[in-house]
Amino acid sequence: MTLPLPAVSAVSDLRAVLARWRADGLTIGFVPTMGALHAGHIALVSQALSRCDRVVASIFVNPAQFAPGEDFDAYPRTLEADADRLAAAGCHLLFAPRARDMYPEGFVTSITLKGPAEGLESAARPHFFSGVATVVAKLLNQVRPDVAVFGEKDYQQLLVIRRLAADLDLETVIEAGETVREPDGLALSSRNAYLSPADRQRAVRLNVILADFAAQLEAGAGIAQAETAALDAARAAFDSVDYVTARCAQTLAPLGPGPLDRPARVLAAVRVGHTRLIDNCAAHPSAD
Ligand code: PAF
Repeated sequence: MTLPLPAVSAVSDLRAVLARWRADGLTIGFVPTMGALHAGHIALVSQALSRCDRVVASIFVNPAQFAPGEDFDAYPRTLEADADRLAAAGCHLLFAPRARDMYPEGFVTSITLKGPAEGLESAARPHFFSGVATVVAKLLNQVRPDVAVFGEKDYQQLLVIRRLAADLDLETVIEAGETVREPDGLALSSRNAYLSPADRQRAVRLNVILADFAAQLEAGAGIAQAETAALDAARAAFDSVDYVTARCAQTLAPLGPGPLDRPARVLAAVRVGHTRLIDNCAAHPSAD
C-alpha cells in the first residue's frame, strides 16, 4: 500500500529516521493514536507541529487496553484515510507498528498504577489503564519525543500519562490538547461512528449535562447537590450511567459535598444504545 507520507512499522526503522532528525538538531513532537482519525486528532498534530520541528503520529489499536468482549475487533481501522489526513495536516512520519512489533513473542511486562488511575474508567474497565500505560511507555521510549500531546477528552488518561512520565523519569513534556467538539457540542470520538442517527441525537445531551453541572458549581452550588442533579439528568437521558462526578482537576481525588474550593473537572461515562461515551469539562471556583 502506498501512503501519502513516510511510514514505518518496525521500531528499528522508526529509530533510523529519528536518529537522522536528531543529528540535524531537530526537535520531535509525538501524537499517539489508535487511528480512525478525526479533527480532534488533527488538532493534536497541529499543536505538536506548533511546538516541534518534526511530528510523528502513531496508529496502533492496542489489544492490551481492551478486555474480552469489548470492541477491539469492531474498532474502526481506516489506515489509508488516516494517512491522507496526517499528510494534509503536515505530519512528517507515521509509525504504524504491527502487534508483533509491540508485543513480540515472550513479552510479559505490564505497568500497574494507582492514584489518578483508580476509579472512574477503571471501575468499568479494570484492565484499561495498565494496557494504556504499558503501550504509552513503550511508544514514548521508542520515539523519545521532546513533546507528546494527549487529548483532554480522555482526561483521566491524560493525568495517568502525566503521572507515568513523572514516575518513570521520562524527559518528554506531556501536553494537553483541548477537546474538539461538533457544532452542537458532542465531543469528537472515534467511537461516535458506532452511533445510530437516533443515538447521535441523544448523545449531545452529555455535553449539555456536564456544562450545566460545571456552571452550577461555578455559581457556588454544593458539589453533592449539583452532582445528584447531573446524575438524575444523565439517568433520564441515557440507557445507563457509569459515573457523573466532580473531581479535583489535578489528582481526580473526590471532593467534599460543599462548594468548590479548587479547580475541578466534571466527568461522565454513559451508554447510548451499544456505545459507551465519555466526556468532561473544567469547573473553576468563583473568584470571591
Ligand atoms: O487515546 C488513545 O487513543 C489511546 O488510549 C492511546 C493513548 C493511543 C494508547 O493506545
